[in-house]
Parts: sequence; C-alpha cells; structure tokens
Amino acid sequence: MLKDKKIILGITGSIAAYKAAYLIRGLIRKGAGVQVVITPSGKEFITPVTLSALSRRPVISEFFSNRDGSWNSHVDLGLWADAMLIAPATASTIGKIANGIADTMLATTYLSCKAPVFIAPAMDLDMFAHPATQQNLERLRSFGNYIIEPAEGQLASHLEGKGRMEEPDRIIGILEEFFAAQHTLQKKKILITAGPTYEKIDPVRFIGNYSSGKMGFALASACARRGAEVTLVTGTVSLSAAHPAIKRIDVESAEEMYEAAVSAFPDVDAAILCAAVADYRPEAISTEKIKRESAKDMTLHLTPNKDIAATLGAMKRKGQVVAGFALETNDELAQAGEKLKRKNLDFIVLNSLREPGAGFRVDTNRISIIDNRGEVQHFPLKDKRDAASDIIHKLETLLT
Ligand code: PMT
Repeated sequence: MLKDKKIILGITGSIAAYKAAYLIRGLIRKGAGVQVVITPSGKEFITPVTLSALSRRPVISEFFSNRDGSWNSHVDLGLWADAMLIAPATASTIGKIANGIADTMLATTYLSCKAPVFIAPAMDLDMFAHPATQQNLERLRSFGNYIIEPAEGQLASHLEGKGRMEEPDRIIGILEEFFAAQHTLQKKKILITAGPTYEKIDPVRFIGNYSSGKMGFALASACARRGAEVTLVTGTVSLSAAHPAIKRIDVESAEEMYEAAVSAFPDVDAAILCAAVADYRPEAISTEKIKRESAKDMTLHLTPNKDIAATLGAMKRKGQVVAGFALETNDELAQAGEKLKRKNLDFIVLNSLREPGAGFRVDTNRISIIDNRGEVQHFPLKDKRDAASDIIHKLETLLT
C-alpha cells in the first residue's frame, strides 16, 4: 500500500528521534519516498547525515540552505506529499502546529500540507497528560489530523507511563491501513445522525441525554476519509467536523432531526443512525419560564416523537442500507434484535451501558454488530474511531 507514496517525515527534538531511522528504513523498504524535515532541536538528537543516507534525499531543516542560499519551499513540499508523519512530535511542536505558530520549516510545512497528517507524540507522562497538551491534541484531531497514541512503558525520564512514541512497525502499519482504506466509499453518499436531542420544556429547560456526538462524528470522519459525501445531522454537541466532504446540519429537537434526516434520505446510499433521540417530548412548550409556585409536585405531559430509524427503514428502496444503534442496559442482544426487526434495519450496532468504557461521552466503545440474517460479531473495547472503522467495514460489505 505504500509503494510510490510520498511521505514527509517531520522529526522534532525528542529522545525518540532515533526511532525515525527505523521509520525511514521501513517506509523505503515498502517502496515509499521519504522527505525528512527536521526541527533545529531534532538535529541535537539524530544527525542529518544518518537521515539523508537512509532516505536518499537531502534533509530539510531551514528555509534557506546555508551552502548556496537556495530556498526550501514549504508550499511545494506540502503539495508534493501523499501524507505527512510527524514522529516523534514533542509537546512544543504539537502546541505550535495546533495554534498556527509557523516559526520552523516543519511547522510551515504542516500548515501548507494538503495531505493527511499523522502525529505520533513522544514525551514524559506528565507532559502528555497535561491539559495544555491534551487540548492541543484535541484541536489537531478537530482539524482532521490523526493522532497515533503513545504507548505506555518506561520513559527517558525513567518514569513509567504513557508517553513513549509508538513503535515504528506499528506506525507504518497505521499508514498502510490508511492507504488501504481510502476510496472504498468513493461516490457514495451517507447520512449520519449524531448527538443528543433537546426537547424544550420552557425557554430555559429541556429534556436531553448524555450523548456527546463522539461516536457519530467518528463515523462521519471515517466515511469522509474513505471518499464518501457525508450529511451529518447533529444535535447540540461541542465537536467540529473538519473534513470538507462533511455537510453538517445542526438541529436541536427530535422533530428537527426527523425533518432533516427524512429530507436527506432519498438522495443517499446509506444511513447510520447514531443519535440518541428522545422518544418523548413535552406536549406543550411554555413560552415563559415555569415558576415554582408551590411545594406541590409538578407533572409534565409527554407525547411520543416520530421514530427516525423506523421511518427510514420503511422508506428505504432496494440497494439503500439503513443501520441503527441500540443503547441497552439489560437483555442487550434480545433488545437489539427486536429493534433491528421492528425498524426494518440492515444491521444494528449494540452498545451496553453495563460495559465499562462503552456508550455515552467516553472516547471508547465496545460494540456488537447484529445483521438482519442473524449474524452477530462481537468486538473488544476500542477507541471510537476504530469502532467506527468496524461499523464501516460492515457497511462496505452491504454496499458493494
Ligand atoms: O454520542 P456519544 O457520547 O459518543 O455516545 C454514543 C451513543 C451511546 C449515543 C451511541 O453509540 C448510541 O448508542 N446511539 C443510539 C442511542 C439510542 O438512542 O439508542 P436507542 O436504543 O434508544 O434507539 C435505537 C435506534 O433508533 C438508534 O439508532 C436511534 O438513533 C434510533 N431512534 C430512536 C428514537 C427515535 N425517535 N428515532 C430514532 O431514530
């Protein structure tokens, strides 16, 4: 998958810079072309001579060459690449690129890069855990960059913890998987619902739920990365969907989500319904804030919302695929199977609130996929982005 791929390898000042030599060797062996861009402090840890000998190209570090005054164009470099990999990425470089500070050749190249960017952090455990680093990484994720999580183990400080740069073989494997997965959904249109719905009670209160949108946004990004045009109908969340192939429609209530999903559906090849939609809404919305007038109980009358999944399941024409989610707390497989049938879905993704690390708000999920032929696949606890890949893999088998 890496044959003839053009990779910019960004190296920064970390003790893990020695691993860049193994990365270059591995990438070259797979047939990729590697252009090293190194920060001034990176050169304190590994020499440009080693890197250029392995990559068979001169190493770029400064904007101008001291030898002949020639100019290194970060723009040309950014356009040349099929992917940029920054490994190791220090907290300092991560902070710079997350905030657009372009004071090194590496940071300017990053800002000019049109290709997908992979970032493999390497630092001490406390630096990695610091909110500043975590917020910068979150920001880079929101730009559509891929963060290759560091591993746990012994660090240069002799402390044990999370911060070791991932091993070169694994990083190369991630790049290979990325290129293998590209274009599998080319020319497909996918509708995704995500996040919670808010059902208004009065101008200041609503009935909602804990959905953060992470699972639905992970699905949207994964579909877009594979070449699909995505319509993402989302409830109120604090996430951004950075990929240009994602058309985002923000809604608040289940009724608004229903309208947006039903009108988008005839034009799509598949729908994945990941939103946590309120089954009921208050029968009447008070135009003024409801006052506490006595110590007596208060009763809210609720009326059922329309079921988006069941509506799309009934509308679907031959060739369209509709997938739902089931969030359960008991009798999980039976409940999910019942929803699959009742809503006429092609498959349903079960997640249970009984599983630690699964469901609302967390970055991970543990899913099972049940299809309408009764086939059940169980997956281990994974990052939601990896769980999204498993779901899309199932979708691909039904679309092709
Ligand atoms: O957003 P996160 O914090 O990442 O959390 C992810 C998640 C837990 C919300 C997600 O993984 C998930 O399980 N989403 C579905 C939650 C849910 O409402 O499940 P349900 O079993 O109540 O609904 C079954 C299916 O019908 C779902 O596909 C749901 O989107 C759909 N539905 C439900 C009611 C309704 N009125 N319309 C619908 O389309």
